[in-house]
Amino acid sequence: MTPKYLPPGPRGWPVVGNIFSLVAGHRFLTMTEWAKTYGPVYRIQLGKETMIVLSGYDVIYEALVKRGEDFSSRPASPIVKLTNPKRIGIITAPFGSPWKEHRKFTLMSLREFGFGKRSLEGKILEESVALQAEILKMGNKPFDISRMVQNAVTNVICSIVFGSRFEYNDGKFTRLMDALDQAFSTNIFGQLAIFFPILQRVPGMRRGPQIIVDAVGTIKTYIREEMDSHKETFDSNDIRDLIDSYVRETKSRENDDETTFTDEYTEMVLFDLFIAGSETTSTTLYWAFMYMILNPDIQRKVQEEIYSVLGHDKPPSTAHRAQMPYTEAVLTEVARIGTIAPTSVFHATSRDTSFHGYHIPEGMTVVTNLWSVHHDPEHFPNPEKFAPCLSLLGRSGTVPEGRSRHAVWYRSTHVPGEAAGRDGALRALHFSAAALHLQTARGRYQAFHNRNQRHHSFAQELRTHR
Ligand code: HEM
Repeated sequence: MTPKYLPPGPRGWPVVGNIFSLVAGHRFLTMTEWAKTYGPVYRIQLGKETMIVLSGYDVIYEALVKRGEDFSSRPASPIVKLTNPKRIGIITAPFGSPWKEHRKFTLMSLREFGFGKRSLEGKILEESVALQAEILKMGNKPFDISRMVQNAVTNVICSIVFGSRFEYNDGKFTRLMDALDQAFSTNIFGQLAIFFPILQRVPGMRRGPQIIVDAVGTIKTYIREEMDSHKETFDSNDIRDLIDSYVRETKSRENDDETTFTDEYTEMVLFDLFIAGSETTSTTLYWAFMYMILNPDIQRKVQEEIYSVLGHDKPPSTAHRAQMPYTEAVLTEVARIGTIAPTSVFHATSRDTSFHGYHIPEGMTVVTNLWSVHHDPEHFPNPEKFAPCLSLLGRSGTVPEGRSRHAVWYRSTHVPGEAAGRDGALRALHFSAAALHLQTARGRYQAFHNRNQRHHSFAQELRTHR
């Protein structure tokens, strides 16, 4: 088939293109609607930038797994130009050797420091105990759980990266949390000013981008301070955490003029882990709490399953996962229905590519609409309904690799790239989310159980408190 140049797409306004349709509402819903008219591969225009949007399981799988080498780059988007102009690190780095090398090194080191090993479980359990204590401090008052969860999740990442956790009221830690919040809090004006930098000359329009730049600066300063103190106490016989791994590797390559193992790179990789790991995991847990509150029957079944496996005092571990298929199905459903990264991280073509009869030039932004997969009525008859489904799970109780088309939701957060390389593949995350959830629900339950000698559910109690 002779490739046509680019696919068709919705008409936009002169100069701005489709930007107002996207910043006004939820862009993933608008994109899902557009796919009904223009098909699973279509084009949108944001200012001068043309983007390709991919929808549905088949097309996304084909691009990110079967054609992973072609679709595994990242665009030099306006937000990247603002926050990482050299495009180093992992998440926003283009396809190529430095990205591959750092991603491989980071994953290897993370494994060494716990991801996928029991030591991570210990860190998560320690943190879940601290989280329970915070929850119990609230007594009978209504409270907002979000900052507590974010503290706990970020602390797990701190333990792995920096080798230590922080007290939740530590001033430095609070500033880090505030900066993480601000890094994700652009409003519509901020988005427009980032996309059309000329608007930053309009009084007041510089504020949004500046907040992000300042937040990024705060997080990086913090990382830099940790790197400096690690260097002062570095002992090659005692590698304590991810920073030490990087210090060791950087030292071993000191005489290599081409090396990318520099302080600048290390700082950006660590920054990426904070940005990628904290907000995503926290938000997934908020959804989990919310669906448990809204569905007390489901919550009760989860609790019963947990107790049947762990009793009332045994800590959970990945080894128990297969024994808790219902809990696994519930967490799976939380991730599906919430789809907390609905348009994922934008990809870009790493070379000129022919796809579905179109010619997509190198460097073009490619948006994978994961929402369209997880809410596809063909696979989920009532996609907006929270309906944990055991039949999605394999005999082991976990989602089988490549067995079910429906399993794509689970895999699409990280896996499309896994075969191809651009994945993040830090699956232990799913365990972290599960363990925190289990422990918290369990601790909360136990506290009430002990006090009232009755089986209350966490959600029912929270409701009563409101
Ligand atoms: C439920 C929690 C999480 C969700 C939903 C999530 C989702 C995602 C998504 C959608 C991507 C983009 C994949 C793609 O390029 O197609 C991604 C990339 C990434 N994630 Fe996660 N993530 C989560 C937790 C974490 C954690 C805990 C870490 C590490 C501490 C992490 C590290 C990364 C990294 C480094 C990348 C970039 C990979 C690359 O560009 O090569 N993620 N994640």
